[in-house]
Amino acid sequence: MQEATGLNINITMPKSIQAWFLLLLSHFVASDDPGSCVYKVCFCLETTIDCENLHLTEIPQTNATNFTGFSTLDFTYNEISIIRSGSLPPNMTEISLQDNPVASIDDSAFEGSSSTLQSLEFSHALFQKIPDALLRLDSLKSLTVAHSKIEDWNEDVMIQLGRTLTFLNLENVSLTSWPTWIQHLPMLTDLSISSCLLTSMPDDALDSIAGSLVSLLLSRNRLTSVPKALSKLTALQTLYINNNMLVDVSWLPQKSPLTTLILNNNHIKNSTALSTALRPYGNSLTDLEIKNNQLTSIPDCSFLILIENWDFSHNRISDPYSGSVNPNITSIDLSYNALQTIPPVLTTLQQMNILLLPWNDIKVITSTRIPTWITELELGFNLVSVLTDNSFPQDSQLVTLHLNNNPIVEISNLAFKSTPMLRELNLQGTRLKRLPIALGSISGLTYFDMSNISQLVCTCMESSLKQWILSQSSGSVVGNCGETSIYDFFSKLSSACP
Ligand SMILES: *[C@@H]1O[C@H](CO)[C@@H](O)[C@H](O)[C@H]1NC(C)=O
Ligand SMILES: *[C@@H]1O[C@H](CO)[C@@H](O)[C@H](O)[C@H]1NC(C)=O
Ligand SMILES: *[C@@H]1O[C@H](CO)[C@@H](O)[C@H](O)[C@H]1NC(C)=O
Ligand SMILES: *[C@@H]1O[C@H](CO)[C@@H](O)[C@H](O)[C@H]1NC(C)=O
Ligand SMILES: *[C@@H]1O[C@H](CO)[C@@H](O)[C@H](O)[C@H]1NC(C)=O
Ligand SMILES: *[C@@H]1O[C@H](CO)[C@@H](O)[C@H](O)[C@H]1NC(C)=O
Ligand SMILES: *[C@@H]1O[C@H](CO)[C@@H](O)[C@H](O)[C@H]1NC(C)=O
Repeated sequence: MQEATGLNINITMPKSIQAWFLLLLSHFVASDDPGSCVYKVCFCLETTIDCENLHLTEIPQTNATNFTGFSTLDFTYNEISIIRSGSLPPNMTEISLQDNPVASIDDSAFEGSSSTLQSLEFSHALFQKIPDALLRLDSLKSLTVAHSKIEDWNEDVMIQLGRTLTFLNLENVSLTSWPTWIQHLPMLTDLSISSCLLTSMPDDALDSIAGSLVSLLLSRNRLTSVPKALSKLTALQTLYINNNMLVDVSWLPQKSPLTTLILNNNHIKNSTALSTALRPYGNSLTDLEIKNNQLTSIPDCSFLILIENWDFSHNRISDPYSGSVNPNITSIDLSYNALQTIPPVLTTLQQMNILLLPWNDIKVITSTRIPTWITELELGFNLVSVLTDNSFPQDSQLVTLHLNNNPIVEISNLAFKSTPMLRELNLQGTRLKRLPIALGSISGLTYFDMSNISQLVCTCMESSLKQWILSQSSGSVVGNCGETSIYDFFSKLSSACP
């Protein structure tokens, strides 16, 4: 925006103020000079004609004779159902008709932009046949059709568009089987067919673009295996097959330099098979998501050296002795699994800062399984009942420790002797009956939570903690003993203690 207006809108300005400022600016542009926006009701800003969310039921009358300088036309969020010939300004490069119930388009409606239009977007359209009007588009690179019940793909149109189309995005468009006309779109580099009911793909579905497809998104379909058609791809970098019913991943494109692979929300069980399928991507993969599957063990992923954060959450990992992880990861998320102990492999990860293990079945924590160097450890909702003098390693760097919602009944007096850096300790929802004396040895705590422990009582037995509690600010000590807050007990009542 800087170039055209000469105004530097500082990026540190809050979003809401920026939006308000832009709106104000666009109002000025529009109202200072009434004829200057192509449509009087819309806002012209730089090269964009912005008609977003104006409750329009039809394309408004143009109010200009000179259309030079505009390239983007945005009708998102209106109620436009017909697009008549001559109603659109010429020489547009981008038109969005997302969130409009477009039912019909005159055959020559896009004529003024036939050689310039590169991007066209529809969603919630009511046409059931891809309109013939698109036949006139000679330069279209990107087409989106979403949330529309398309019954007739008008293959002549799609094949005509195929001469230039590089990006095709079809989402929730009532496709139940693979659209075979895709083979006539040889320029495609990005293809997305999501939220459809695809259960399979023909083995030759992508043959015509096997060497050029860069990004493929098949999210929210009903695939049970990675389709064999994908195994032939040689240039793919990004692959999304999340929210399907994948069990079998053996047909991943082994010859492609995948950098991003998203497999969340599937039924993948076999860690060995997964690891084998991932082996070709050791030097390319930077993002792998495998949340919410059915893995029972940690796969061997030691060779995926470019991945920094692992998220294995929401699987069924129960084998603590499984797998191996690349040594230079910085965080690992194993929450919502079925581990009964902390996996020893984690102690080999020298770069790891954050270890997330909530919602497992861990009963015992021991110093040997907690890397000295980690700063954040989350163990909420496990089955730990006791913290001993030996639970945490010597010279632990822990800053944040969450042990909430464990059935902890006892904390030894020296449990926190080796965690000098601790700032945040969460013991909410545990089964402690008294405040742990061990708290007195943590000097720099800034947040301490013992809320929601119904049996907790404060007594004169804990009066050695008075100094410690009162050195905290009242808001940083959370929790009650009976009817009284812990902080108040020590600041007021405990003076009655001997
Ligand atoms: C634009 O709108 C103004 C005010 O309604 C009108 O006077 C002018 O003739 C219009 N210009 C065109 C080109 O339609
Ligand atoms: C049309 O508008 C553009 C940009 O605002 C300007 O450069 C051009 O001279 C105008 N053309 C005519 C014929 O007014
Ligand atoms: C549209 O582009 C064509 C070809 O570049 C040009 O001749 C014509 O003047 C343009 N029309 C407008 C209104 O800018
Ligand atoms: C799919 O599209 C239909 C319109 O064809 C819409 O009513 C429905 O809400 C969409 N479903 C999703 C999940 O977006
Ligand atoms: C897992 O996959 C491996 C290799 O692909 C195979 O040998 C093994 O039988 C599979 N295990 C199960 C339980 O299916
Ligand atoms: C991890 O280490 C390998 C070499 O051992 C290196 O190539 C890679 O860039 C490292 N990754 C990160 C995220 O540091
Ligand atoms: C407090 O604990 C009870 C069970 O002991 C649980 O049902 C409730 O959700 C907890 N409340 C909060 C705020 O965590």
